[in-house]
Amino acid sequence: MPKDATDVAQDAERVIVFDTTLRDGEQSPGATLTANEKLEVADALVELGIDVMEAGFPAASPGDFEAVRSIANRVKGVTVAGLARCNESDIERAAQAVRGAEAARIHTFIATSDIHLKHKLRMERQEVLDRVAHMVRFAKGFTADVEFSAEDATRSEWEFLAQVFGTAIAAGATTLNVPDTVGYTSPPEYAALMEFLLEQVPGLERAVISVHCHDDLGMATANTLAAVRAGARQVEVTMNGIGERAGNTSLEEVVMALATRGDQFGGGWTRIRKDRLVPTSRLVSSLTGVVVQPNKAIVGANAFAHEAGIHQDGMLKERTTYEIMDPTDVGWEGTRLVLGKHSGRAGFRNTLQEVGIRLDDDQLNESYQRFLDLADRKKFVTAADLVALVSDQLEVADDPLHLVRWNASLGSNGPATGSVVVNREGQEISGDGQGNGAVHALFQAIDSAIGIPCELEDYHVEAVTPGEDAQGQVRLRIRANGRVYTGHGLATDVIEASARAYLAALSNVLQDQPTAIIPGPVSAVSRWT
Ligand code: KIV
Ligand code: ZN
Repeated sequence: MPKDATDVAQDAERVIVFDTTLRDGEQSPGATLTANEKLEVADALVELGIDVMEAGFPAASPGDFEAVRSIANRVKGVTVAGLARCNESDIERAAQAVRGAEAARIHTFIATSDIHLKHKLRMERQEVLDRVAHMVRFAKGFTADVEFSAEDATRSEWEFLAQVFGTAIAAGATTLNVPDTVGYTSPPEYAALMEFLLEQVPGLERAVISVHCHDDLGMATANTLAAVRAGARQVEVTMNGIGERAGNTSLEEVVMALATRGDQFGGGWTRIRKDRLVPTSRLVSSLTGVVVQPNKAIVGANAFAHEAGIHQDGMLKERTTYEIMDPTDVGWEGTRLVLGKHSGRAGFRNTLQEVGIRLDDDQLNESYQRFLDLADRKKFVTAADLVALVSDQLEVADDPLHLVRWNASLGSNGPATGSVVVNREGQEISGDGQGNGAVHALFQAIDSAIGIPCELEDYHVEAVTPGEDAQGQVRLRIRANGRVYTGHGLATDVIEASARAYLAALSNVLQDQPTAIIPGPVSAVSRWT
């Protein structure tokens, strides 16, 4: 069941994980998710074991409202929060959006620093206090669970901040959040602020103190943990640390710091399922298109790789010489061989279950065919291959566009040429194109078949697994009609992976803006020049 302030009082060391991947995380440049992708991420976060899911900012747009509403109606076992500025219409919108949740929270915020009061809000301090009192009471009219955030708290005058929190508690707020909105604080300063607030704000010890950090100086995780040590009991985090500018505090870093060095942080612990960290990280990365840096703690490709000979020698003798965590505890499957081309369907299903993936019969049949295909082309099929293959399969299942056939040729004399056959909602359409490379030519061919004007903003290719026969994964970002869409494709050939990724992004355009389709060929879009 969702956790509230009473549970925290009973269990003083448990840290509530408030995940804001779908709200602050989705504010990462280019990380826009479609409605279906948000539901997929929401399901994965529930499985991961988060306590509170900030599903979005309902007043931001009708699409955001609808996404929060469908998540609230769908997920079980977590509290669903909707963000609202401190005004009645935002709060009403948030209340309507989270109404269907098993446990609903309204999260309302207003800035408290003089910089924000003077330049952004143009309000006096007394007006802010009055607004907080009124709006927290207004929110309480919809749900008992109200969180109040003092935006830019760490650059606010401490005495005023204490007054603001006192007002919010008196009006009924049950969680008080102290955001480091611009990533400005440091661990000792943030801890001292927690201690000051606990001392100065009557009733704060009975509420939940929450922390929300941004990573502008690379200290978000350290700041969050320092606050936990000083008494904070809710951490606001995102998967892979995605978020505004340099991002938010990484969920996986805080969870594993508490699991590994809880003794340093007042014995704080979370109920996150650690073995879901890597699979959830992969899902968020592939759907948002935000690549995880290889040296990222816990979930980066090199987080458990040992290159130096002396380290490898130590590892062979005893793993704990150079590893403080067991990679399998956080969901890394390693590259062990799991299946061969003679493995049957039952073995395939069992292996998928072992790595935490459940498919319905249709999805299983489709994935099994792709697995056989892959096993024909690739010597060893590892667990990592399998996860990549299946996540790609799940992602494309509902897409309106699919690659049927493709061809590309290039040489030293003249431009590359490409041709494709694409299935658009049951109808096969072909197109031809020319370009300054095979991928470019194929994209031109897809444009001539589908006809959605767009620009390629980002293109990234990587190998999913080691070895010459590794699967290539392409993630890209396009802009169509002023909005950004991502796509991800996988194949043993990077040209094919590129075409799949491009079609996945165009599918997202079609799902989001059906009127973006312009029948017939698009005039040449110069993406690569
Ligand atoms: O960074 C911030 O201040 C926020 C608030 C809305 C909590 O995201
Ligand atoms: Zn934030």
